[in-house]
Amino acid sequence: MCLRQVLLLTVVALAASFGVCDAKIAPDFIHPCNTTEKACLIKATRDAIPDFSKGLPELGVPSLDPFIIDELPIQLPGVKVTFLEGKVTGLRKCEVLNVEAYVEKNIFLLEVKCNITIKGKYTAVGRLLLFPINGEGDSKIKITNSVIKLNIKTKYFKDAEGRDHFGIKNYRYTFDYGEKIHYVISNLFKGNAELSNTVLQFLNENWRAVTEEFGKPVVDYAMNVTIETAKKFFDAVPYDELLYVPIPKY
Ligand SMILES: *[C@@H]1O[C@H](CO)[C@@H](O)[C@H](O)[C@H]1NC(C)=O
Ligand SMILES: *[C@@H]1O[C@H](CO)[C@@H](O)[C@H](O)[C@H]1NC(C)=O
Ligand SMILES: *[C@@H]1O[C@H](CO)[C@@H](O)[C@H](O)[C@H]1NC(C)=O
Repeated sequence: MCLRQVLLLTVVALAASFGVCDAKIAPDFIHPCNTTEKACLIKATRDAIPDFSKGLPELGVPSLDPFIIDELPIQLPGVKVTFLEGKVTGLRKCEVLNVEAYVEKNIFLLEVKCNITIKGKYTAVGRLLLFPINGEGDSKIKITNSVIKLNIKTKYFKDAEGRDHFGIKNYRYTFDYGEKIHYVISNLFKGNAELSNTVLQFLNENWRAVTEEFGKPVVDYAMNVTIETAKKFFDAVPYDELLYVPIPKY
């Protein structure tokens, strides 16, 4: 570590311990790391997720658990499905598997394992398997032990007061559907309970193939919401309240 970094860390530590930064914006559950060591980043992320996911209305950061899907149309081959009044829960209990940050290379990696429940109303119109479908009812999707890996390309920017912030340039992700997805869908075929149950059973027996077919738009949407939420947080909270590592030149 060079002298400048030592000085900077000392100043930050002093400022923190003497409450010089009384205009601190970051909530108390943010425990900034002094280095980008994995172990610290993982712990800090673990510490932050339960409260962060509840949302921070004072910072304009919406809740991720629960998170609300007002309306999400999904066009599948042959069937148009629309989710309505959806409520996604479980993110606050995600297990943090890995976090890596490379501040010079603008890379941030996050890997979590989550149980997620999506509940809401749906409509489905078209053909499913061989049958014409015109369903409308309640649905619940339970995802067990899915592993989500996010690879975020970060950037830095200055706000109006000249303070540095993290930004998100773009991201990629992989979503492993995990061990089991369970579907509960009522009234798939209006007025035909028997066919509805048979098809639902088929969907559950073939959950992996079924999910690969229609899961991507849902997960894309969920990832977008998550990233947009993180952006709002980074817009509100300056870099030097998130990570006590000198910001690279940019
Ligand atoms: C960072 O360093 C300060 C000062 O040495 C220490 O009090 C704090 O616990 C450290 N933070 C972490 C997350 O290790
Ligand atoms: C998800 O639920 C399963 C079964 O209830 C449990 O064994 C597992 O530990 C949970 N995983 C997480 C990440 O909470
Ligand atoms: C992601 O969300 C933002 C804001 O809600 C929206 O403007 C954008 O179109 C969305 N992008 C995708 C790919 O859905």
